[in-house]
Amino acid sequence: MKLWKAALLGAGAAALIAGSAQAREIKIGFVATFSGGLANLGEQLRRGAELYHNQHKGELKGDTVELIFRDSKNPGGAVAKSVVQELITRDKVELITGLIFSPNAMSIAPLVTQAKVPVVIMNAGTSFITNMSPNLARVSFTMWQAGYIMGEHAAKNLGCKTAVTGFTNYPPGKDSANAFKTGFEKAGGKVVDSIPMGGPAKVPDFTPFFQRVKDKKPNCFYVFVPAGNHATAVAKAYGQLGMKAAGVKLIGPGDITQDTQLQGMGDAAVGLVTAHHYYADLNTPTNKAFVAAWKKAYGADSTPDFVGVGGYDGMAAVYHVIKTVKGKITAEKAMKALKGWTFDSPRGKIMIDPETRDIVQNVYIATVKMENGRLVQDVQKTFDAVKDKCKELKIGRCGK
Ligand code: PHB
Repeated sequence: MKLWKAALLGAGAAALIAGSAQAREIKIGFVATFSGGLANLGEQLRRGAELYHNQHKGELKGDTVELIFRDSKNPGGAVAKSVVQELITRDKVELITGLIFSPNAMSIAPLVTQAKVPVVIMNAGTSFITNMSPNLARVSFTMWQAGYIMGEHAAKNLGCKTAVTGFTNYPPGKDSANAFKTGFEKAGGKVVDSIPMGGPAKVPDFTPFFQRVKDKKPNCFYVFVPAGNHATAVAKAYGQLGMKAAGVKLIGPGDITQDTQLQGMGDAAVGLVTAHHYYADLNTPTNKAFVAAWKKAYGADSTPDFVGVGGYDGMAAVYHVIKTVKGKITAEKAMKALKGWTFDSPRGKIMIDPETRDIVQNVYIATVKMENGRLVQDVQKTFDAVKDKCKELKIGRCGK
């Protein structure tokens, strides 16, 4: 009896030793904006990523994942580049993720190409970014997905013959306005003015820009501002200038009705129409379970938004890489694992396009409504499995 027990113990110990010999400690660099006025974005991204991580870390057969958080501070690119350099050379991370702002993702592209380190982009949306390095895969969105569809929708279904675009003046803003114009004008509309509205780091006074729009009297005003603190100021300026009553319809990508900002926008947001890949109000079992898990983890008053979902799905992609790649993660092996990867995301089914390493996903059209004192995003239309139109049409740097 004793002998039998000892033999069993021996086998168990051997298995443990074998297991621990193989068990890996995988370091992942997580770069986002964690300080200053845009820190809420980094926090939301981190929450999404950690929610997935905490739900799934038991699935790694003894391997452990260490997330090393680094602050990219602002959207400029220089800080992101230096922290990524450090993460690679000093911390020896096997993969980089996070990346909220396009200039930050762009600034690290040459570095990760040279170092052969894979990157999973959780937010940055300028369409051509994934063309900048073969080591980048994107799990968030491209500005052309929502922008182009909104352009077509405005001309075909919102009765808009003319439009003005207003955009935060940096790569995703230009991309978004260009996507809208392309879709809108192909469907018979005309963009009569296009207004750069300051940079991403600081919320401008939108009044002079919006007054110029009001004077032009377009049917639609398409606005892109980055997630964070711009959108509430957009809704307020639109309301204060009486633009709705003047017959100018405010539309945009869902960045301007970001779920974490929505309730602060008040009545001015009612009637706003957006195109986007995620709304916290999406009525699907996967999303409902996700929202419930989010509230359980972060409080009943908290809500996920598209940035949080980017973090969640991005971490799902990272886990897929860890589970699929044997041994050290290289860019080549990671990209091979991610090409064609599918996931049942809270936003609907997603896939990484094997050709472009970019996200393929549903795009929804939603209208903001007031229900029992709460602003909700009511989805009216779904476009399935939308690819990046910029690359499909080979526009500018998307064609390279
Ligand atoms: C970007 O910089 O690519 C970006 C940031 C925030 C958004 C969308 C795009 O809401």
